[in-house]
Amino acid sequence: MFAFDCHQQRFAVPFDYPVYFTKDLFHPQNPLFALAVDRYNEDRVHRMMVFIDSGVVQAMPHVPERIRAYIGARPANLRLEGSIQVVPGGEQSKNSWEYARQTIKAIADRRLCRQSFVVAVGGGSVLDAVGLAASLIHRGVRLIRVPTTVLAQNDAGVGVKNGINDRGVKNFMGTFAPPFAVLNDFQFLRTLSIEHWLGGVAEAFKVAIIKDRDFFYYLSRHATRLRARDEASMEETVKRCAILHLDHIRTTGDPFESGSARPLDFGHWSAHRLEALSDYDISHGQAVSIGMAMDCFYAFGLGLLSEKECDAIMDAFKESGLRIWSELLEQRTSTGDLEILKGIDDFQEHLGGELNVTLPDGIGKKVEIHQIDPVRVGEAISCLKRNSERIPRSLLQGASKKRSGILEERQEESFEPQ
Ligand SMILES: NC(=O)c1ccc[n+]([C@@H]2O[C@H](COP(=O)([O-])OP(=O)(O)OC[C@H]3O[C@@H](n4cnc5c(N)ncnc54)[C@H](O)[C@@H]3O)[C@@H](O)[C@H]2O)c1
Ligand SMILES: [Zn+2]
Repeated sequence: MFAFDCHQQRFAVPFDYPVYFTKDLFHPQNPLFALAVDRYNEDRVHRMMVFIDSGVVQAMPHVPERIRAYIGARPANLRLEGSIQVVPGGEQSKNSWEYARQTIKAIADRRLCRQSFVVAVGGGSVLDAVGLAASLIHRGVRLIRVPTTVLAQNDAGVGVKNGINDRGVKNFMGTFAPPFAVLNDFQFLRTLSIEHWLGGVAEAFKVAIIKDRDFFYYLSRHATRLRARDEASMEETVKRCAILHLDHIRTTGDPFESGSARPLDFGHWSAHRLEALSDYDISHGQAVSIGMAMDCFYAFGLGLLSEKECDAIMDAFKESGLRIWSELLEQRTSTGDLEILKGIDDFQEHLGGELNVTLPDGIGKKVEIHQIDPVRVGEAISCLKRNSERIPRSLLQGASKKRSGILEERQEESFEPQ
């Protein structure tokens, strides 16, 4: 009775964008920024607007002037439209539509076209909010990201997502929109608070624990150096982690996450909830290390991680200064349920379909589970609380003394799941 005439439409769009690592990006003689803007060798002057995180301006007041001078010195190639716009840094920039809207207005006022550039300089939050605005105008203005935190350089800034929080839900609004280029300048990391220096270390542990055992050992061996702000260790950490993220996006067959799995989101179902529960007092990086720590004990309860592996992970977290505990994990609703469990509902609603939670399966491998048992979550929280009070082995034995010995031993441990 009902006839259908269907013309199946199908095409693939190749995306490519370079992710560079450099130092002193806006040094007058550093050609990288100009080269990245002109990577299609277009014969014209490139118009651009620059949006910069207020935290960057506060820590390095000379940066806007340096950017202005850099662009101004290349009038044949680059043109700055309007003044450099300062966007309030941190989660506030994406915790409502306000700053994304202001960005849209600023870009509309200067009448940028789709071939013009929006340059976003800042932490993951500012990149997310400005990136969202750029992706909406004319259905997408070219976006150059200049990430300035560890987390932005090794995770948030190198991927394909933008977003803001809305309706009390983290990243409720957003788009998938690959950037035109990403320019990571390690010098920006020098002025970070220790909290935001370490935030990206949490994300590095995340990919290492579920994807790359050798990287986990690298992080464990360099934990105290990372905590002490050793730049060489951090640069290696940022690069390896960024590359793992890029590999993941390129090779897993679902760069725009149309499926219901989010395999890189180990520790994140509870992390996003913790951030919201704390009214964003707990930063994303801190929430991720706490979320991973809890999920490690959940994995231990399922026999996916051995006690030795769990201890190795917790020791490495503690040695590198990562936070693994928050009282909010124990907070209960009026009906007696753990508040944190609402994170599961949010997570499933966000992704749709079957629940998929990524857990480590030994160190360096992962497994997806499709159910979270509230009782086991409670047990994992109790184990984590006890562990959070335990001093790591290396600190007990005297940091410098047998440090290399411990780490060699750690590298040789078999870590077989029990
Ligand atoms: N889009 C994605 O794929 C993706 C992935 C992971 C995380 N994120 C998001 O990233 C956000 C977290 O980003 P973040 O960890 O970079 O923190 P952030 O952007 O919130 O910045 C943290 C603080 O550091 C300041 N700051 C930034 N650069 C600085 C510098 N060089 N020196 C001194 N201070 C500086 C900021 O002003 C802010 O106060 C979260 O909202 C998270 O959801 C997005
Ligand atoms: Zn994250």
